[in-house]
Amino acid sequence: MPSSSSPTPASSRPATPTAATGVPCPKGWFLPRYGAGRLERRNIVECEDSAVYARASGHPELVDCLLTMAEVEWEHEQYFRSKVTGHPLLRLFPLWPAPPPRERIRGSFAEAGRAASREPVAEAVRG
Ligand SMILES: [Fe+2]
Repeated sequence: MPSSSSPTPASSRPATPTAATGVPCPKGWFLPRYGAGRLERRNIVECEDSAVYARASGHPELVDCLLTMAEVEWEHEQYFRSKVTGHPLLRLFPLWPAPPPRERIRGSFAEAGRAASREPVAEAVRG
C-alpha cells in the first residue's frame, strides 16, 4: 500500500484542471492571451509615441519604421482580442480598451503628429 506521501500516479491524474472540472482554467490559455493582448495594446501607443519622439529629435527616417511597428502591434492586439472575446473569465478580467481603427495610426500622425491610440475608442467607432 502506498504511503500518504507517495505521488499520485500520472495515469490517475486528469491532464488539466479544465479536464477535471469542465471549467476553463485561468492558468490555461486565457491569462497568457489576456495579458498578451493588454501588452500589445500598450505597445501600439509606445510605437506611436516613439515615432513622435523620433521626428521631434531630428530622426524622421525612423518614423515610417516605427509606425509600421505600431500597425503590427495593432494586428497582434486584434489576434489576442479575438482569442479572449466571449470568454467567461472576462467577467473577472475586463477587456482592455479597444484601439482605434488601424488606419488612424498613420492618419493621426500625418494630420496632428500625435498618437491615435492613446485614447480608448468606443467599439461602435472601430472599423
Ligand atoms: Fe506584438
